Amino acid sequence: MSATTIDPTQVDAREDDLPIPAHLRSAWSVLFEGLRLSPELRKGLGFTIAISLGAVIGNLATPILIQQIFDHGFRGGFRATFVFGLCAVAFGVVFLAFIAARAAARRLVRASEEALMGLRVQGFEHIHRLSIATQSRERRGVLVARVTADVDTLAEFTEEGAISWIWAIVQIVVVFVIMLLFSWQLTIPVVLLVLPLLLVMGKLQASMSAAYDAVRVRVGEMLSEVSESVMGADVVRAYGLEERVDMRVKRSIHERYRAHVLAHLRTATMWPMGTVFWGLAYAVVIVVGAMFGPEWGLTFGTVSAFLFLADMFLHPFTDLPEIYAQTQTAIAGWRKILALLEMPVDVREPSPGVALRGGALDVKAEDVSYRYGDGPLVLRDVSVEVQPGAHVAVVGETGSGKTTFCKLLARLADPVSGRLEVGGVDLRDVARASRQNAIRMVPQDGFLFDITVRENVRAGREGASDRDVDAAFDELGLRDWVESLSKGLQTRVGERGEALSVGERQLVSLVRAQIGNPGLLILDEATSAVDPATEHRISEALRRVSAGRTTITIAHRLSTAEGADEIFVFDAGRVVERGRHAELVDAGGTYAGLYRSWLGNVRA
Ligand SMILES: Nc1ncnc2c1ncn2[C@@H]1O[C@H](COP(=O)(O)OP(=O)(O)OP(=O)(O)O)[C@@H](O)[C@H]1O
Ligand SMILES: [Mg+2]
Repeated sequence: MSATTIDPTQVDAREDDLPIPAHLRSAWSVLFEGLRLSPELRKGLGFTIAISLGAVIGNLATPILIQQIFDHGFRGGFRATFVFGLCAVAFGVVFLAFIAARAAARRLVRASEEALMGLRVQGFEHIHRLSIATQSRERRGVLVARVTADVDTLAEFTEEGAISWIWAIVQIVVVFVIMLLFSWQLTIPVVLLVLPLLLVMGKLQASMSAAYDAVRVRVGEMLSEVSESVMGADVVRAYGLEERVDMRVKRSIHERYRAHVLAHLRTATMWPMGTVFWGLAYAVVIVVGAMFGPEWGLTFGTVSAFLFLADMFLHPFTDLPEIYAQTQTAIAGWRKILALLEMPVDVREPSPGVALRGGALDVKAEDVSYRYGDGPLVLRDVSVEVQPGAHVAVVGETGSGKTTFCKLLARLADPVSGRLEVGGVDLRDVARASRQNAIRMVPQDGFLFDITVRENVRAGREGASDRDVDAAFDELGLRDWVESLSKGLQTRVGERGEALSVGERQLVSLVRAQIGNPGLLILDEATSAVDPATEHRISEALRRVSAGRTTITIAHRLSTAEGADEIFVFDAGRVVERGRHAELVDAGGTYAGLYRSWLGNVRA
């Protein structure tokens, strides 16, 4: 797990969350919206319900047949044909009920898994449509949790809980009616058992749910402790923090163990409790039946059948607290997923949109302002032009808005006011595919996917062949370098590319950008120092990649700024100076200050 991969369980335990839209406040509306979201769940649902009800009702045949056998099978001696005939019927009905229940369960699991898969895909696609403002760093973990852990919380309900409501209610009602038909007097003591049963099971269920919530929190804590200590292994060793870290990790492991044991202990109390109540029901039926049966005109068969009926009547009540808890969990999960899916997509792609022309592209920003969410303006009225083929450097203090400006150029978000034009077209009107090919950004940390170098570069252009990848390395003079890696182009780069050095990651990112032949290349230079050999390779590759293209480089190195055709100086979200290196140094303003500190660093 890398530093920015956030564990979903851990995030779930955190307070901060996506805002819940007003119309999703009530449980019913969430349930309704949630079901509307997954057509997979509704498809064939009527049939599934019908066969599962068939199974429930089929099982009710047993007590009725038992009553028949006991009351009529022994009249005037043992009536073998009658008894065996009914036994065969009972077997047949129970077997059919089993087949129906199995079919219903299979249909439900399939529909439910398809629905969850659909939800994950919907959520994932939606996250990718959100702009950088909504995807700000703090929230990424929450977004990840939405498509992973939160979707999981629905499974129990969609596979089991939802249909269990129907089963439970139908079984309770039908058995109640049969009991009344057999004997209303015997029905009363059985019904009286419901209230204490619900109270006890409800309480046990609540304590069990609380214990499992605690398990989730503890698991999250343990994961974060363990992953932090593994990721920060260098710091831990260098600062001699082993003992302290060791203690914290062990404590979190122990806490998780305790929480788990407690939860299982509670589960172990809960299930046998159901048996206690069924036992009580048998006792009540037998005692009351034996004492008053003859007086009320009850036959032996009726009382025997009542044993089964009482069991069947109480059974769903023991399940209700669990079904209720599953429903609550699912509603909470749906609420979170819906909150994600209802987040407005602020970058709307035009359809069909304008295609950018090939070759170097010019850039024009008119009074561009931007803020992240409802934060302060981080860009204020930025107006600049870049000629096609020009090499521009962007400099400024940390936090002055350089990266943000470049992200707007790649349309990772739209300005809150003002407009951006690339190649003479308003960026909002440029077709997505054209923009993604023509405008390429090499991010500061040179993000790479955890695949081979070759595959990473190939990701830079759809349908790129091995030969194209080789050619791209050749063009940038990086063939020798890439072959010097342990497995050459087949080297796996590790999570986020961390198996490569920062400089090496930038080189691979550069080739990945270049293979798409962009007309505008935006480069966020690595801030950390790179060794001289890599530095030399990067400058050479940059020189080659820039030829015939417009480049905008966020410069953290003096040499980049010195060589640029023009420099834009950012300060607190504004462009305060622009010009060539020598002019700006002479002007003695913000850039001159930056230059002095650069020189200071170089000398130091
Ligand atoms: N995802 C975000 N959510 C909220 N605010 C952000 C986000 N990203 C950047 N900011 C804020 O926007 C401002 C500009 O940030 P930006 O990353 O553009 O600066 P920068 O000039 O690139 O800095 P650096 O030289 O350190 O890379 C900063 O005040 C920063 O805190
Ligand atoms: Mg930056």
